[in-house]
Amino acid sequence: MSRQLFVTTALPYANGPFHVGHVMEYIQADTWVRFQRMRGAEVNFVCADDAHGAPIMIAAEKAGLTPQQFVANIAAGRKPYLDGFHIAFDNWSSTDAPENHELAREIYRALRKNELIDVREVEQFFDPEKGMFLPDRFIKGTCPNCGTPDQYGDNCESCGAVYAPTELKNPYSALSGATPVLKTSEHFFFRLSDPRCVEFLESWTQDGRLQPEVANKVKEWFKRDDTGKAGLGDWDISREAPYFGIEIPDAPGKYFYVWLDAPVGYLASLKNLFSKTGADFDAYLARPDLEQVHFIGKDIVTFHTLFWPAMLHFSGKHQADGTYVPRKTPDKVFVHGFLTVNNGEKMSKSRGTGISPLKYLELGLNAEWLRYYLAAKLSSRVEDIDFNPDDFTARVNSDLVGKYINIASRAAGFLAKRFANQLSGDLGVEGRVLLDGLRAHADAIAELYEEREFAKALREVMALADRVNGYVDQNKPWELAKQAGMDAALHDVCSVCIEAFRLLTLYLKPVLPALAVQVEAFLQIEPLQWADSARALGHHRIAPYTHLMQRVDPKLLDALFEPPPEPVIELPPPGGEAIAPPISADEFFKVDLRIALIVKAEAVEGSTKLLRLTLDVGEGKPRNVFSGIAANYKPEQLTGKLTVMVANLAPRKMKFGLSEGMVLAASDADEQASTGVYVLEPFPGAVPGMRVR
Ligand code: MSP
Ligand code: ZN
Repeated sequence: MSRQLFVTTALPYANGPFHVGHVMEYIQADTWVRFQRMRGAEVNFVCADDAHGAPIMIAAEKAGLTPQQFVANIAAGRKPYLDGFHIAFDNWSSTDAPENHELAREIYRALRKNELIDVREVEQFFDPEKGMFLPDRFIKGTCPNCGTPDQYGDNCESCGAVYAPTELKNPYSALSGATPVLKTSEHFFFRLSDPRCVEFLESWTQDGRLQPEVANKVKEWFKRDDTGKAGLGDWDISREAPYFGIEIPDAPGKYFYVWLDAPVGYLASLKNLFSKTGADFDAYLARPDLEQVHFIGKDIVTFHTLFWPAMLHFSGKHQADGTYVPRKTPDKVFVHGFLTVNNGEKMSKSRGTGISPLKYLELGLNAEWLRYYLAAKLSSRVEDIDFNPDDFTARVNSDLVGKYINIASRAAGFLAKRFANQLSGDLGVEGRVLLDGLRAHADAIAELYEEREFAKALREVMALADRVNGYVDQNKPWELAKQAGMDAALHDVCSVCIEAFRLLTLYLKPVLPALAVQVEAFLQIEPLQWADSARALGHHRIAPYTHLMQRVDPKLLDALFEPPPEPVIELPPPGGEAIAPPISADEFFKVDLRIALIVKAEAVEGSTKLLRLTLDVGEGKPRNVFSGIAANYKPEQLTGKLTVMVANLAPRKMKFGLSEGMVLAASDADEQASTGVYVLEPFPGAVPGMRVR
């Protein structure tokens, strides 16, 4: 019976195109899947767009699209990346697909039936202008710790403090600039702190299915406090409308938090695939021999090792006979580190990337160079790896091309010219020993692929290539070719090279699938399977050699590096406050603005704030106006100057007398800030009484 594997990569947020970090994850998983298939496993390898959540909803609104349209546009751009890097998913779906709506609701209902869902009041910031609850990322304000302005609602980028959005000073909505208000609403919670969940997860996370370093990290999350209470908190799984997501059953206007339905998307994409192939979804998942494997990055471990297995385990079926059948949980969660570029920062989801995968392809860089380079750095550990252009060039040129491809090109010429591309069946003792040595490594290399120790696997393969090159250097086919009577020896050496090249190609095929197809055509053989390592070509005719792979031109790599992205700064609203809601021209013209001459300006006794202004608006009689600018202007700075006033403002009785209008001045929202207050002054030529419009 062949091994049954259900393999996924993390579902990327549909808020932008792939960056090279995504591509790395897909290459890792794709390599592993291709290896498994070469070993005869039956694999379903699926992914999907993670469509839901507030950030996508808001990005869509900014783009003037519905979230569905926005996500569809992103999805439409996926194919060139996947095809371009030879990533062979069997299916690509979306968490907004009907299968996911249905499955997420089904899982939720089962959790509720198992008494693992609670309803609680939660107080949260609400944007009164947008009419929506604000996710932490969309609340900004002054850091309560260090006073840096314009910090996000959850942590300060300047001092690193972590806080609740309610602790921010002068909070404002990053969406509208409005001051958020606290509002309570009912939220649904998944009761992860329930002893059943804690007990299940403590064993599930420590039973060997996770990488040791991941299991150790996860262990810390279970730490009990002094009272013996486990450290797992309940999980808030609901969000209020407006939200782009899946509506919660029996709770109109409430939606699943995106991370509740996102992993369900793994199953939904599989179900979507099976709806096309006709396979039985439930029967497949019930197979005892099915292995469910998730490839993910180190930033989303909690979701995959706590929330997701608990969701699955406790959403099973209660059978008529009273027994409970849990849903299948993942057999493996393979966590990788982050890809950085030039020792740079990790490529963040919002900040873009150091290298663009599409540009890589457009420049004509070979996709399999990148596959090889990344594989040559990947291990089973959760460590970051760095893309370094010099290192890239060196590995591809000296290892891949210099050591491996060269073996074929060194032999192919003689075989074509002298032996009509026919291999000798004999190979000689030395050659047979060499080849048997190569074959003897098949299991060890397979084991390394199985363990995702790709770097080690490739090192083994390159060490074997070194052996072959040593054999060529010793037997010197170029000299044999010049010596009379050495035809048979030359034939054997070249045939050994081709057989060795076949074996090395087989070992590299999970990493270099397109190259392997070219080699299979050159060697005139069926697609290489792992078991073919035990075979030999024997007396066999190959096709004429055509060039298989170029060296990297370092100039191309220079072109690949984009200039650093423009920093994306979220601007505070202009002048510290959002632009007011629109008004009509008619409404504007209700305000009668006139040029006024400041005939006299004087201090007001008993007030540190006010100046008394005597204004001439061309009416034949002066106007008396009190203006709160005493802190900013001395009377003599204003006397004799022109300014703009509101001439039809209803007169207002003040402690110091009647104020018959208002002088216009510019200031920041926070009037007393160091930025100051500035009285308006018209260009030369304006005279008192002119209307401003
Ligand atoms: N939508 C969630 C995953 C939901 S899974 C049910 C998400 N999306 S993501 O687009 O931000 O990330 C997708 C995957 O890419 C994650 O596994 C993440 O760790 C990985 N990577 C993101 N940046 C990366 C690098 N720089 N390097 C390697 N992997 C990176 O999280
Ligand atoms: Zn701070």
